Amino acid sequence: MAGGRRRLRCLSPACLFLAAAVALLAMPGLAAARTRRYTFNVTMATVTRLCVTKSIPTVNGLFPGPKVVVREGDRLVVQVHNNINSNVTFHWHGIRQLRSGWADGPSYITQCPIRPGQSYAYDFRVVGQRGTLWWHAHFSWLRATLYGPLVILPPRGVPYPFPKPDREVPLMLGEWFNADPEAVIKQALRTGGGPNVSDAYTFNGLPGPTYNCSAAAGDTFRLRVRPGRTYMLRLVNAALNDELFFAVANHTLTVVGADASYVKPFAATTLVISPGQTMDVLLAAAAASPPAPAYAIAVAPYTNTVGTFDNTTAIAALEYAPLQGATALLALPPPALPLYNDTSAVANFSAKFRSLASARYPARVPRSVDRKFFFAVGLGADPCRSRVNGTCQGPNGTRFAASMNNVSFTMPRTSLLQAHYQRRYGGVLTANFPAAPPVPFNYTGAPPNNTFVMHGTRVVPLRFNTSVEVVLQDTSILGAESHPLHLHGYDFFVVGQGFGNYDAANDTARYNLVDPVQRNTVSVPTAGWVAIRFIADNPGVWIMHCHLDVHLSWGLAMAWLVNDGPLPNQKLPPPPSDIPKC
Ligand code: C2O
Repeated sequence: MAGGRRRLRCLSPACLFLAAAVALLAMPGLAAARTRRYTFNVTMATVTRLCVTKSIPTVNGLFPGPKVVVREGDRLVVQVHNNINSNVTFHWHGIRQLRSGWADGPSYITQCPIRPGQSYAYDFRVVGQRGTLWWHAHFSWLRATLYGPLVILPPRGVPYPFPKPDREVPLMLGEWFNADPEAVIKQALRTGGGPNVSDAYTFNGLPGPTYNCSAAAGDTFRLRVRPGRTYMLRLVNAALNDELFFAVANHTLTVVGADASYVKPFAATTLVISPGQTMDVLLAAAAASPPAPAYAIAVAPYTNTVGTFDNTTAIAALEYAPLQGATALLALPPPALPLYNDTSAVANFSAKFRSLASARYPARVPRSVDRKFFFAVGLGADPCRSRVNGTCQGPNGTRFAASMNNVSFTMPRTSLLQAHYQRRYGGVLTANFPAAPPVPFNYTGAPPNNTFVMHGTRVVPLRFNTSVEVVLQDTSILGAESHPLHLHGYDFFVVGQGFGNYDAANDTARYNLVDPVQRNTVSVPTAGWVAIRFIADNPGVWIMHCHLDVHLSWGLAMAWLVNDGPLPNQKLPPPPSDIPKC
């Protein structure tokens, strides 16, 4: 084309067309979207942590798994080959999957699992999102080791709405089990009791020096920094069952993004991040030579569980100069973290999130609502029905269960999306998930006598483009606890939250409909409620579930069935030819 020094005459229609195309491509944000291809070979690999050597499921032999990088607008194709002795699927946590529900990944919801020896290509576009998301296995508890970052850069030429950091570092917080996590959940489901807890928290897979037998140089995550530079941490909570506090000693962090949407920047010394959530934070290294050569980075759990939990603190190092040995690391003064059950610290932190709501990134908050739902979420129980000898190990000899509106989700044996596509619902799902609890009660007061749940694969059918509000109300049945609720296929706006029982008359009036944060995972506050809104403009079947895996295993899930719209581009396309069969 007419590039370079020599100018060619461009008069013919073909030449003018090409010139226009080139000019368009040169405009920021309109450069040709690329197709990014990755191959995931799911294989067992040997890993040692805390002096325990074991074989764990990995992607390409890596733990944590490989970083996937795309730009907003790109198409991403991930070819998965399952070489382990278990079913597997992958979920691209937070990706909207606009009309690509077949690539969403939750097993038995949008696809049958990929069986051992089989392959499946996840093929989708990344539209209208930028920041940090992540990918993880979505079958049983396999995500304990099968996870990695999914970085979405802005389109070429489009700057961040904050000063460009000197370096960007994905930092995945995880949980390490000395036991096989699959054996842990299997045993819990057999006995009806709570599962054994993890043995350590990890930074990019590394537990650090606070744990026994974890003092080797390679056991600690180290972030080397230079004075005067700014670092963007792409934080992900990939832990199975724990919300986490996070802090860096002597450093204030600036939160600039969450769940792949920009937020109004705010400063914080301690972060709270729930499983499933991501946060982009800027860390400004000390200007000149810092008073100490290194500082501790710490994570510790936030929980109000009545059961046991992994009450440990993991440490990583922020190094201005290399630290010598584990003793030096342990000698670093740890950052002050709130107490493990400090619910008001959590509420104060989550209240700070606001959408950026700029001209370029407007917050399109639904102002009116077509359908309102009220979901009571929490724990419950099942009768023992002894699969174990004697009593079960749940509350009062029962089995633990979890529910929304007292319905505990039964995993179907076939994919809901396939059943929907074929309009063959019989024996698979029923479209009668309750819009409110069957019997209202004092959700955060003294629990009702009967704590038993119902079971079913129940969905809420929605007309295309319905404007939806859901109030998620925590219950104190078997203990009030916060529940990180994750919605597949959508981002939602968090328009309100509070403690106690939701009070429609007063609470609705206080909603933020101007710049509420947009997320895919929000924690229902302990003994409180949160209100979310979204427009059901993405046809398919979308699971909404607690991202504490133990609660998901106990049934804390439901699904939305969003019907096709009238226009061709509002319909779910047919499944890809390699979609696995059940
Ligand atoms: Cu991050 Cu349904 O999952």
